[in-house]
Amino acid sequence: MLDISKIRKQFPILSTKVNGENLVYFDNGATTQKPQSVITAESNYYQNENSNVHRGVHFLSGLATDKFEETRITIQNFIGAKHSHEIIFTKGTTDSINIVASGYRTLLNKGDEIIISELEHHSNIVPWQMCCEQSGATLKVIPLLDNGSLDMIAFENFLSENTKLVSVSHISNTLGTINPIEKIIEKAQAVGAKVMIDGAQAAAHISLNMQSLGADFYCFSAHKLYGPTGVGILYGKEDVLNELPPYQGGGEMIKEVSFKKTTYACLPHKFEAGTPNIAGVVAFKSAIDFITELGLSNIAKYEEELLQYATEEVLKIEGLKIYGTAKNKSGIISFNINELHPYDIGMIVDKMGIAIRTGHHCTQPIMERFNIPGTARISLAVYNTKEEIDICINALKKAKMMLS
Ligand code: ALA
Repeated sequence: MLDISKIRKQFPILSTKVNGENLVYFDNGATTQKPQSVITAESNYYQNENSNVHRGVHFLSGLATDKFEETRITIQNFIGAKHSHEIIFTKGTTDSINIVASGYRTLLNKGDEIIISELEHHSNIVPWQMCCEQSGATLKVIPLLDNGSLDMIAFENFLSENTKLVSVSHISNTLGTINPIEKIIEKAQAVGAKVMIDGAQAAAHISLNMQSLGADFYCFSAHKLYGPTGVGILYGKEDVLNELPPYQGGGEMIKEVSFKKTTYACLPHKFEAGTPNIAGVVAFKSAIDFITELGLSNIAKYEEELLQYATEEVLKIEGLKIYGTAKNKSGIISFNINELHPYDIGMIVDKMGIAIRTGHHCTQPIMERFNIPGTARISLAVYNTKEEIDICINALKKAKMMLS
C-alpha cells in the first residue's frame, strides 16, 4: 500500500495555489511534477559536482563522470537491459526516435517498408515520413478501431519481407491504450523487421524488461517520470546500435579524427556527441530511485484504481464522451462534453486550480480518425487522489453549466 499523502509531501509544487485554489495537477501526460530529491540532485550537481564528463583527469571531472555513468547503470537495471552501453543519453523521446529514423535513412531503400500506427504522437510519425522521403521507403499505418486499439489484423496483413522497421508507442498519450507490444515485436521480428517502441507514456507506469521484451529499440524521457526536462534515453540492442550510423558528429563520438578518415567511438559514445545535459542525467537517477522505492507494480495498481474511479465518475456527466475505451488502458482519459470546445473547458477548470490538457495532444491523425477538433485530457500520476478527481468532476459540471 502506498502512502499517498507522504508521497505528495515530497512534491513542493503540489502545495501551490493556482487562481486562489489548491492546485489539482492532471497534466501528467505532458510532464510530471518533480520530487524534492530530483530538484536537490540537480542543484547539488551545480553547487558541488559540476564539471565536464569523460574529458578531464581532474577530481571534479572524475566525480561528474562517475555520477553520469551511475545513472546509466541505474537505467540499465530499471529497464533490464543486458549492457549499460545499450543506454544512450538523449534530449528526450523525440530526440531518441530521430536518432533511429535518421540512421535508417541510409539503411533503407526503395521497396522497403516502415510500419507505424494511427495513434502515434507526431514525434513517432514525422521522423519516419522524413526517413521515407529520403530513403524511398514506404510508410504503412496500422488503423485504429473505434475503441482506440490497434487493428491487429491489418497489422499482420502489412507484414512481409519488405517490412524493415515497425515503430509504435507502448501507451497512447491521447487515448491511454496500452498496445500489445509483445505480440507486435514477435510478429514483426518473425519477418525480419526491427521494432522500436516509444515508451514516453509507459516508463513511469509499467515495469520494463528489455531482455524479455526483446524490442530492438525502446525510448523515453525523464520528465514524464518525475525527472528533469531535456533528457531521456534511447535503448538499443548492442548489435542493432552497432549497425546504426551515428546521428551527430562532434566531440566525444569519435575514436580518431583526421582529414583522411575519421573513425567513431564505441557504444554508447558513438551517439553522444557534444557536452550532454549532465545535471539532467544526474537528477534522472533520483527520479528512477523515487519510482523504484515506491515499486512500479504498486504504482500501476494505484493508478489503475484511480483510472477506474475517474472513468466511472466522469461518465456520470451527461453528454460526456470518452475517446479511448480499450480494455487495456493506462491512466489517461480524453473526453469531450457535448459540442463544447475542449479549450473552453480547460480555461474554466484552470480558474478553479485544475490543470488538464486540451487540444490535439500532438496526435492530429487521432483527431481526424474520430472527426473531432480536440479533446480535454486528464492524465494521472502516483500523487493524484480520488479527492482531486471529485474536485475535477465538480469543476467540469460547473464548466458545462457555464458554457451550455
Ligand atoms: N506528449 C506530451 C503530451 O501528451 C507533451 O502532452
